[in-house]
Amino acid sequence: MRKNGLLIAMDGPAGTGKTSVGKALALKLGYGFLSTGEMYRALAYNVFAKHIEPENATAVLDAARALSFTFQRQPDASLKMFVDGEFLGPKLHLEEVGNVASRVSTNAQARQVLTDKMREVGQNGGIVMEGRDVGTVVFPDADIKFYLDASAQERANRRVKQLREAGQPADYAQILSSIQERDYRDSHRAASPLRPAEDALVIDTSVLSMQQVIDLVLEKIGHHAS
Ligand code: DC
Repeated sequence: MRKNGLLIAMDGPAGTGKTSVGKALALKLGYGFLSTGEMYRALAYNVFAKHIEPENATAVLDAARALSFTFQRQPDASLKMFVDGEFLGPKLHLEEVGNVASRVSTNAQARQVLTDKMREVGQNGGIVMEGRDVGTVVFPDADIKFYLDASAQERANRRVKQLREAGQPADYAQILSSIQERDYRDSHRAASPLRPAEDALVIDTSVLSMQQVIDLVLEKIGHHAS
């Protein structure tokens, strides 16, 4: 056991419920919840705001090095992220920022810089870290590793539902193709491609409700703790 508790990795592609499940788990355990994707999104936002070409490796690396992150645990367990003292919040979730994040995250050296920053936050445990490569690269020695998966079709359905509930237009075919494109890029890049760690517990959430996934994960943690 680490100083503050277990270090739990929660990886998988977007739209599998990693965030909701990870937060529920962290809340239950009294831990913090960190979305490492937010850190890639912060880099992307910075690159976007400075008009840096996402494929300009040196400029992206410099931008990554210059970022300073601080975190504040919230009542819902999430670690609220401040970038150079500023809370960027919803700006990080714009579609363009997500696309640039997927592009800058192919930069191996920038990944190394962000990975080091993630290790600083997580090393003492007491945290659920959500991402793509937490269990494979950031913390190969994580105490417990989950990998949530779901079919691209099911993830597109969930996204459509989410957008419609928020009163925004949603085109299923377009969303599906953008999910497939992002999956391809995330799983085929040379640096830390998206894949489950060998010792991760893989959960296919396509046919499970959020609550069923949470129950399954808690059951595994219970087994681990006993
Ligand atoms: O989880 P998310 O959609 O907020 O992540 C945004 C992008 O960041 C995603 O396209 C992949 C990248 N990412 C990554 O490469 N490694 C991580 N540990 C987390 C996110």
